[in-house]
Amino acid sequence: MDKPKSTQGRAKRPALDPIEDLTAMLSRKVVGQPAATKLIVPYIQMFQAGLAPEGRPVGIFLLLGPTGTGKTKTVEALAEVLHGSEKNVLKVDCGEFQMEHEVAKLIGAPPGYLGHRETQPMLTQQKLTSVTSEKCNLSLVLFDEIEKAAPSMTRLLLGVLDKGVLRLGDNTTVNFEKSLVFLTSNLGAREMVNEINPEFGFQSVRGGDRPDLTGKLQSIGLVAVRKRFSPEFVNRIDCIITYQPLSPEALSSILDLQMADLQNHVNTRLGNRSFTLDISLDARRFLLEKGSSPEYGARELNRTIHRFLTQPLATLVATNQISPGAKVLVEVAANRDKLNIQSVEAEAAAAPAHPTVMLVDDNRDLLHFLERLMADAGWTLLTAESTTEAKRLMALHKPDAALLDYMLPDGNGVELGVEFLQSAPAALVIVMTGTILPPEEEALCEEHNFPVLRKPFLASDVMNQIRSRLASIGATGRS
Ligand SMILES: Nc1ncnc2c1ncn2[C@@H]1O[C@H](COP(=O)(O)OP(=O)(O)OP(=O)(O)O)[C@@H](O)[C@H]1O
Ligand SMILES: [Mg+2]
Repeated sequence: MDKPKSTQGRAKRPALDPIEDLTAMLSRKVVGQPAATKLIVPYIQMFQAGLAPEGRPVGIFLLLGPTGTGKTKTVEALAEVLHGSEKNVLKVDCGEFQMEHEVAKLIGAPPGYLGHRETQPMLTQQKLTSVTSEKCNLSLVLFDEIEKAAPSMTRLLLGVLDKGVLRLGDNTTVNFEKSLVFLTSNLGAREMVNEINPEFGFQSVRGGDRPDLTGKLQSIGLVAVRKRFSPEFVNRIDCIITYQPLSPEALSSILDLQMADLQNHVNTRLGNRSFTLDISLDARRFLLEKGSSPEYGARELNRTIHRFLTQPLATLVATNQISPGAKVLVEVAANRDKLNIQSVEAEAAAAPAHPTVMLVDDNRDLLHFLERLMADAGWTLLTAESTTEAKRLMALHKPDAALLDYMLPDGNGVELGVEFLQSAPAALVIVMTGTILPPEEEALCEEHNFPVLRKPFLASDVMNQIRSRLASIGATGRS
């Protein structure tokens, strides 16, 4: 294939990726809601271009729709893409502000009021800044379940939407000009579920069967919102986005995401006790059947995964019934009422006891920590700071594992890893990155089964990953 070769310019791309990348990255994490991604991304682009209007937030979005369809997930996914962590969101749960007097928790009590010094406002400029990152100075603010807010809270919110400013109890102000504001609400959700599921049952409803459904749900949402909020409030909102019920295909993709997350969790949390999950197609079907619900969306799927897989798996781990490096088979029980989880022993002496590991990174800190840990464990560490040097050493020493930084001065670690595997198919490649990988590189990592470590991480975590991955590659072969 005529794929352009990686160059220094491409690897050292700016911290924020172009718009297509952002759209692609978001749609991988938020499944089946293309409208949401399409409407939100241009506002981020406007901010990046320095063209966002002054005196108001960069964008104001109202996310409507049935429960468990990805409203909150959208904001979390955006935080992960922009800032590297789902947690970089300032979340205000409006359910906590249902009474008029509770608003003081949000903005702090005015001076002179008893205890005003003790009331720390929830929304301060500092808190807004604390959810930004080195990569991006746009804050994501989420007001969850706004329909529950007391009228005084709605009034404050109106000020934020209108002028981009919130006045606190001590008369200082918080500026929202570098923020995206998300409001979520279940207004109209019940009527929407009735519309989706009148008498035939959820399984019969597919997006393609009802081309009018999107418009219908949108108008149900809008009617409910107009009933609850004043026209001036509704007029300040840039986009009202109605989330669609998740189709069986979308739920199936969400299941795949959850399974990949679970395996990742096992690898990072259990370290050298970790194992490889092998979930049969039938077991996936079982989880999907039990976890499909018109009322609770993916929440029901998550509950089902937890009940039938995560919990029983945790019990097996806690009672030492899974050996490190084992392959864990997940299949449907004969009477189809649960999943059978069975550990298949790894073959002895599968992994080298003292592997040779190659580190390719131009950052000396990680090298320093790894050198000590690996020497203690009797491992051999080879190091290179460029792809050219790395290729020479790889050919010479045939390392068991390669730990590759994504951004290298003369290329990128993912492509180096793919090349390395061609000459050493049984080797382990781990990619490290300080930013989010562009979609094409992320796809390459998935295709070749490269774990991706997001910086910062502990040197001991890397060692654990290498130990467990080498054990499972030895036991089960590269899948
Ligand atoms: N479209 C989606 N894509 C990927 N995962 C999803 C999607 N929808 C839901 N999920 C999964 O279900 C969980 C719950 O979804 P989320 O919190 O976004 O629901 P919500 O729409 O905000 O619902 P609620 O109205 O109850 O707040 C998420 O953490 C995620 O794991
Ligand atoms: Mg939510």
